[in-house]
Amino acid sequence: MHEHDVVVIGAGGAGLRAAVAADEEDADVALVSKLHPVRSHTGAAEGGINAALREGDSWEDHAYDTMKGSDYLGDAPAIETLCQQSPDEVMRLEHEGMPFSRDDDGRMSQRPFGGLSFPRTTYAGAETGHHLLHTMYQQVVKRGITVYDEWYVTDLAVTDEDDPEERRCYGCVAYDIQSGDLDGFVAHDGVILATGGPGQVYDHTTNAVANTGDGQAMAYRAGAPLEDMEFVQFHPTTLPSTGVLISEGVRGEGGILYNAEGERFMFERGYANNDGELASRDVVSRSELTEVNQGRGIEDEYVHLDMRHLGEKRITDRLENILHLARDFEGVDGLEEPMPVKPGQHYEMGGIEVDENGETCIEGLYAAGECACVSVHGSNRLGGNALPELIVFGGRAGWHAAGREMETAEIETGPGASTGGPELDTPVEPGAVAPRSESGNVAADGGHEAGSGTRADGGAQIMGASETVSRAVERERDRITEFLERDDGVKHATIRGRLQKAMTENVNVFRNEEGLKQALKDIRETREAYTDVAVFDPSRTFNTELTHAIETRNLIDLAEAITLSGLARTEFRGAHWREAHQERKDEEWIKHTMLAWNDGEPELYYKPVILEGENKTYEPKVRSY
Ligand code: FUM
Repeated sequence: MHEHDVVVIGAGGAGLRAAVAADEEDADVALVSKLHPVRSHTGAAEGGINAALREGDSWEDHAYDTMKGSDYLGDAPAIETLCQQSPDEVMRLEHEGMPFSRDDDGRMSQRPFGGLSFPRTTYAGAETGHHLLHTMYQQVVKRGITVYDEWYVTDLAVTDEDDPEERRCYGCVAYDIQSGDLDGFVAHDGVILATGGPGQVYDHTTNAVANTGDGQAMAYRAGAPLEDMEFVQFHPTTLPSTGVLISEGVRGEGGILYNAEGERFMFERGYANNDGELASRDVVSRSELTEVNQGRGIEDEYVHLDMRHLGEKRITDRLENILHLARDFEGVDGLEEPMPVKPGQHYEMGGIEVDENGETCIEGLYAAGECACVSVHGSNRLGGNALPELIVFGGRAGWHAAGREMETAEIETGPGASTGGPELDTPVEPGAVAPRSESGNVAADGGHEAGSGTRADGGAQIMGASETVSRAVERERDRITEFLERDDGVKHATIRGRLQKAMTENVNVFRNEEGLKQALKDIRETREAYTDVAVFDPSRTFNTELTHAIETRNLIDLAEAITLSGLARTEFRGAHWREAHQERKDEEWIKHTMLAWNDGEPELYYKPVILEGENKTYEPKVRSY
C-alpha cells in the first residue's frame, strides 16, 4: 500500500498543475497516471491559451465572451475566476521557460480565436499543449514529486454511506501496467481526478485512445454527480480520415473555409455574417455539416480549409505543425492545396460536478480539467479556454486539497442542490444490469452499494482509510481475475465499436428524439454484452487488452450519461441541437443537467445556473456571431 498526503490521478496539464500546487503547500504528493506524463492528451492541444494580457483587453471582456460562448449556461463565479487568474498562470509558465511565440517587440504573441472579442489566444506555434506539458513536467521533476507512470487507476476507495454527501474518498486502486500488480494508494488529504475527457465514446474524435473518461466514470459510480454531459463539442476542422485536429489557429491567422462550389459559405450562405470562420465552434460545425447535407460538400463528406494565401513564411512561423499533420495524416501539402476538414468530437463540456476549489460533494475527492465541470464552458467551450481551465483550476484543487485557506466556494455541489427532475420517456431502463457473480465483476454500482456494513449504528462510520482502500483493492483484484479467467466471451473491442457507432450515428452534431432513443437502446445492449466481456491475453505485463476492457465499462456509463442528458434537454442551446426544439428556451432551461448514479440507476435532476458575477449579472442575449 502506498501512502501520500495528496494523490493526483492523471498527469496532463490539470494533474501536473495540481501536483505542483499541492507541493507548494508542502504536501507529500503522488502523481498516478496510465501514461507517462508527457504522453498525456494535453500535448495534442494546438491553438493556445486565452488570457487577457494586453492593454485594451480585460478579464471582464474575457468573462463576457466566455459567458456568451457558453450560451448562458456557465456559472459566473467559475468563469470570472478563470478569467481573473489566467493571466498570472500564463506569466508563470513564461517564467518557467515555456517557449511562447513572440512578436517583434518581444511580447508573447496573441491571435484571434473563435468567439473572442479581442485576439487573446497566447500560443507557442501550433503546438502549445506540447510545450505546456513539457514545461510543467520539468517543474514536477525539479520538485522531486513522486510519479507513478503507467499505473492505471481502476477505482476509487470511497466509503459507502447512503448519502453521497456523507461519503469520504480515502484513495484509489491502481494496476501497474508494467508488472500486472494491483496496489492501493491511501491519500490522507485528498484525491484529485485530472483524467481528461471521454472522447473515445465517438469513433471520429481528435482525442487520444487513452481518453476514456475513467475519472468521470469512477467519480460518478462513487456518488459524485455528473453535470451537463449532453454538451459535447465537435471541432469544425478535423482531418476526415483520422480525426486529427487542424487547429482553429489556422482560421485565427486568416484561413478560409470553402464548399464544393468554391463559396466562402460562412459569409456567402449567411451563417455568421460578422465573424465568418471565427464564429464559435458549434456554429461553424453545424454550418459545415449543413453544406454537406445540402449537397455542397466535397465527396459528400467534408469542406476545404485554405491557408495558402497566408504565405509560406507566416505559415511556417506560426502554423508549421499543421503542415506536418496535414501531410502525415492526410497526404496533403497545406502550402500547395486546401486541406479537407470536417467536424469531429473534440471536448466534453460536462463532467464531474465541482466547485471553484475543485471539490466534489464527496469529502476528499476533487476534480479538475476536462473531467470536471465547474462550470466555465456551459453548453459550448470557446477555443483557447481549455488550457487556462487546466492550470487555473488544477492549481486551485491542489492548493485546497493540501490545506491552503481558500475563499469559500459559491457553487454548491451534491444532490442537495437539486431543483427537481424531468419526467422522461425512455425506450429502455437505462443503467444497471444485474451483477454477474459474487465478485461483482460487472456490478453496475461499482461497489458503492448502499448500506453494505460500513456503519455500526446507523451513524458512526467505522471504516478508516486503510480498510476502505484494502476493500477496494480486493474488489478490483476479483474483477480483474474474473476477466482473465473467463475462457469464453465477447471482446471489449467489439463492444466498444458498437458503442462508438451508436454515439456517432445518433448523438452527434444534429440530434433528434428518435435517434437519441435508438442510441440509448444500443448503449443498453452494449451494457448487457459487457457482462460477457473476456480478456484473451493472459499476460501479466503490458496487457492492453485488459486495460481497454476496463476502460470500455467507463465508456458505456458515460455514453449513457451523454445520451440520457441529451434526451431530457428539449431545447437548442450551444452544442446541443434538437431537431424538434429549434429555440433556446431560457425560461425553462437555464439550468444544469445533473445525473446521479443511485446504485446503477441514473437519476436526472437539475440545479440553477449562477449568472450573477462579482460586479454584474450576465443577462442572456441572442447569441450571434
Ligand atoms: O483548435 C485548436 O487549436 C484547439 C484549441 C482548443 O480546443 O482550445
